[in-house]
Formats: sequence, structure tokens, C-alpha cells
Amino acid sequence: MTRTPKGASSSANVFEKPTLNSWHQHFNGSGTEPARYVALTNAPAVFNMFHSYEFIMNNPCRFRDRFDHQAEYFSGKGEAHPGDVWESNFIPDILDLPFYEFSTKGPGMKHVEIELSSNRLSSHIAEFPVGVYQKAHRHGPGAYIITLKGKGYSLMWPEGQKWERFDWGPWSMMSPPNRWFHQHFNLGKEPVRQLALKGWGQKYPIGGWEQMFKSTETGGDMIELEDEDPAIRDMYIEELKKEGMDLRMAPVTYRKRP
Ligand SMILES: [Fe+2]
Repeated sequence: MTRTPKGASSSANVFEKPTLNSWHQHFNGSGTEPARYVALTNAPAVFNMFHSYEFIMNNPCRFRDRFDHQAEYFSGKGEAHPGDVWESNFIPDILDLPFYEFSTKGPGMKHVEIELSSNRLSSHIAEFPVGVYQKAHRHGPGAYIITLKGKGYSLMWPEGQKWERFDWGPWSMMSPPNRWFHQHFNLGKEPVRQLALKGWGQKYPIGGWEQMFKSTETGGDMIELEDEDPAIRDMYIEELKKEGMDLRMAPVTYRKRP
């Protein structure tokens, strides 16, 4: 299958990551609207490791293997890679990126993994339809989820404990705690889009990365719909009713547990 996302067109939701140790400066090009800037950085961990301002901030090392003044490096071009990855150095409008089918995470789910400037910090955008929720999964700390479009709620819980509910809407931000299961539910009348900023990607994965989308029944970190607490779906159906909507997912037969 050929997967070639097309370039973006506007500049309302710019997404970029400067190459390692490069000077960079941001400008608000609007003239009428304030700009909002959100960044994920590993600076605290780096300062903890070296505890030397001079070494970290006055280091002339140039990572030429990443950027050596290549023409069009920041032109917005990119390449599709296996694993639904879009590798680029600059994305003019993240809302304009096409998505790949990702039903592993739930019915009708789509996503695109984004790898920028060969950095280890990575991201993805997930989209899920009206009347649908994602399967629960868990991983390490440091993922920050920003809702770009839509409204809903998330359940989060550490293994063996009751969930906590968090309601969200456009531009809400949340971060699942270390190894807490988390599960997102669409309560709006339009598809939800969420941007996740995280300290790992597919190019530079962390240990246990491959477990994230394997069933807990086979030792992974994702709870299949057949294995989840039936109260989770019942609650979602009730919440949809309050919004005048119905569940748009196939009936599920729960597996027997010992
Ligand atoms: Fe997650």
C-alpha cells in the first residue's frame, strides 16, 4: 500500500522540532493574534545528568549527521515510513495531516506517528469517531495528550484499583501517570483528535514499547474490549444518552475470567 501524506497548507497549527543543539528563534507571524507555544523537553533530565550549565548551554558540538544546511530541510516535505510514521522536520499544519487506519486501538481509530528532525522525542495524532471509545492501554511516564478537536472524557487507573475520570475539550492537556491504564471516550458530535507528545518513537523506541498494543491476556499492556470491566461500556452508553447519542460499536462478548 502506498502511504504518502500530502503537504500541509496553512500555518495555524505549526509543528516543528529544532535539530539538536541548533540555535532557534520563534516569531509570531500573525500580527493580530497571540501565539501559544507548547513544547516537550528533556532539559530537566539533561541538567540532572550533567549538572553543568556551561557544558549544556555553551556546547559548540554540531550534529551534522542530523542537519548540515540541506536545502529544503525545513520546507515541510516528509516521508512515509512503515508503522504509519510520517518523518519530517517541519509540519506547517498538523490538522492537515492524513491519517492511517489503526483499528488495533479500537473500531474506526486512525492515527499518524510523527518523527521530527531525528530527535528521540516524538509524537502522534489519534482520531476516533463519534460514539466510539479507545481500548485501554498503559506505558511509562512522560506522555502529554492535547485534545485538538472534540470533547469527551478519559478513565485512568493503576492496576487493581478503581478508575478516575477526567473530562476534556479542545486544548485540554493531560498526562497519564506511570503505568496507569488510560482510555479515552468521545462524547462529542464530531471525531476527536488528540496530539500526544512523548519521549519515545518508533525510530528510537524505549524498552517495552512493543508491549503497548499487545493484549494483557498475552502479557501485553492493552486491554481488549472483551477483557475490560463491563461497567466501562455501560457508563459510556449512559453518558452518550445524556448527549442524545448512541454507541456506534459492535456488541461485545466478554471473555470468562477465572
Ligand atoms: Fe497512551
